[in-house]
Amino acid sequence: MKRLFISLIVFCIFTCLSAYDAKKIIRIGTDQTDLVLQVAPNGRLYQVYLGDKLLHDKELNCFFPYVKSGSDKSVSTRGWEVYAGSGAEDFFEPAVAITHSDGNPSTVLQYVSSEQKSIKGGIETVIRLKDSEYPVEVMLYYRAYPKENVIKTWSEIKHQEKKTIILWRYASTMLYFSGNNYYLTEFSSDWAKEAQMNSQQLQFGKKIIDTKLGSRAAMHVHPFFELGLEQPVQETQGRVLVGTMGWTGNFRFTFEVDNAGNLRVIPAINPYASHYELRPNELFVTPEFIFTYSNKGTGQASRNLHDWARNYQLKDGCGSRLTLLNNWENTCFDFNESLLADLMKEANHLGVDMFLLDDGWFGNKYPRNSDTAGLGDWEVMKKKLPGGIPTLVESAKKVGVKLGIWIEPEMVNPKSELFEKHPEWVISLPNRKLYYYRNQLVLDLSNPKVQDFVFGVVDCILTNNPEVAYLKWDCNSPITNIYSPYLKNKQGQLYIDYVRGIYRVLKRVKEKYPEVPMMLCSGGGARCDYEALKYFTEFWCSDNTDPIERLFIQWGFSQVFPAKAMAAHVTSWNKNTSVKFRTDVASMCKLGFDLGLKDLNNDELVFCRQAVVNWTRLKGLILDGQQYRLVSPYEGNHMSVMYVNQDKSKAILFTYDINPRFAEKLLPVKLQGLDSFKRYKIKEINLMPNVSSDLIFDNQIYSGDYLMKVGIDAFTTNRAFSRVIEITAE
Ligand code: GLA
Repeated sequence: MKRLFISLIVFCIFTCLSAYDAKKIIRIGTDQTDLVLQVAPNGRLYQVYLGDKLLHDKELNCFFPYVKSGSDKSVSTRGWEVYAGSGAEDFFEPAVAITHSDGNPSTVLQYVSSEQKSIKGGIETVIRLKDSEYPVEVMLYYRAYPKENVIKTWSEIKHQEKKTIILWRYASTMLYFSGNNYYLTEFSSDWAKEAQMNSQQLQFGKKIIDTKLGSRAAMHVHPFFELGLEQPVQETQGRVLVGTMGWTGNFRFTFEVDNAGNLRVIPAINPYASHYELRPNELFVTPEFIFTYSNKGTGQASRNLHDWARNYQLKDGCGSRLTLLNNWENTCFDFNESLLADLMKEANHLGVDMFLLDDGWFGNKYPRNSDTAGLGDWEVMKKKLPGGIPTLVESAKKVGVKLGIWIEPEMVNPKSELFEKHPEWVISLPNRKLYYYRNQLVLDLSNPKVQDFVFGVVDCILTNNPEVAYLKWDCNSPITNIYSPYLKNKQGQLYIDYVRGIYRVLKRVKEKYPEVPMMLCSGGGARCDYEALKYFTEFWCSDNTDPIERLFIQWGFSQVFPAKAMAAHVTSWNKNTSVKFRTDVASMCKLGFDLGLKDLNNDELVFCRQAVVNWTRLKGLILDGQQYRLVSPYEGNHMSVMYVNQDKSKAILFTYDINPRFAEKLLPVKLQGLDSFKRYKIKEINLMPNVSSDLIFDNQIYSGDYLMKVGIDAFTTNRAFSRVIEITAE
């Protein structure tokens, strides 16, 4: 009798629990957006809503997109499952695919539990799923940042099978959309051609954006996209999702429109050549996917990401940034101690904070006088720089600027002592002729010894020279000759373990040298993701510093990254444009210079010095303000961007005429983000010496209302002409 009673109670508890769990709603919400998940009667987890914030909590459990319509009210097994597995009833692209140790290729995940807790800036939700037949567990993580309206999500996979299992799909997450039309904007790229925006409508089937480049992974396409719901993305209106993956290696975004016209978006590490052997109890952590949803177009979405990045992700996101003079475009490999000392004087004369010494300062047996030799041998080249880094630090100190140094520690030239000593540290196919990219090979970062070496490069420079104030970390080659001598018969892990190896090194660097700002560079902007940016204060957008091209490149990157993370230098690319134009273009991001002052005439020099003063005075506004992209270079002959500070008391407007047509109709630039009731004084700055502003608005006062509704006549029909306008509330 007693036994029967206990069984009855257990039965009741169990049925209550499963009834409760079957209705369980998990709400991942920000101030503007809700992502709602629900456990269906079959015990599996489904996405029931993603969109504008829902105002009535009671209605949260009104959704059942996973229930079949008509008389059959069973759970549909096609689509909407949050982390759909392979080999089951969903015939479209899965989030996870596993070959179990017994060879079974299917995965069906049941909901187990979930919890929510507060984290810095938001709420973290962790959901536990478990395969119904195998000891495989998946944890789904969601971090919602209410104020910034950003959600960051990733997954973890683990098992207790007796032997290794093979992972061949491992998405960070999976999101679903139901609509009539979906439009994708992608960001294609190449050397000197980064962040080119192209849009297309998604039709039935799959569109895949991926890369197989390994180390210089984002050279051909960047790890972010914009999705327009019902209409192509627009700047100030329409429902959009902007998403980006924090992974400095091969990534893959899959957009699949299914038979019912629903869209699933799957951000993941690219599984290409990457069947991952997961040992029992080993944790496979996917990269973070970060997204924001906006019903006010991409302008708002970008501002969400900018705010979030500064507050929570970017290294020293709330700190300041250093202006600099770099020597790469000016001297290339051709310099010596006294020339560098002169350049440091020029840096001081220009008024920038730092001199950045680029490639070519190392290698003795194989001197780094071109890109054909010396990479890997991180000892100062005695012939060029007999006094070593200490002398450079001294010269910099003497003229009151800081010193920064370029490194490319993941790479090696075959003509190097490192290669002679450690050929086994290099990714290279044992039985084929080696293929070189920029005359170099990639070190095998999956090997802990190589990780120690790479950390040692940085550690040695910074320990021996604690006054080195900045590093530019380059990566000029994709992974070639793909074979790891270290991983031996586990080659399927190389692309993934390489990236994890870099992160291990970067983590050590950040822990030991938390104060040292670092620029992420990859032959330009081929590394630009939010995981790397946990370790870097900024990235080099492109070797292409032609200001006209930069208008497009910077416009592209600004969709996802704040100006604070984007390094832009004034160089001699496109000398057909004025020094003022080049400087004004670089001034809308993190300003630097890379030219010889001797190439400038007196007026240009005076202008540049004043531009540095202006930028330094206004950098808080440019780097931390709200960015409004006003006029797109993709839509005509002009471009304009502005920044507004927190209390709307100050703004800065940049306007650029690219290649206007004769007698072209010019429209005023309508400002955004101001206070309609504040009155603002307009002042054109960054003018060449002895040139006064021809802006009729100059020195006048207008309400924010007027400036936003009527606008400023700032555009002209001059070629490559620019204005920088300071806007100050009375
Ligand atoms: C890459 C970088 C450049 C410069 C060179 C040096 O191309 O993008 O800025 O540092 O390497 O070799």
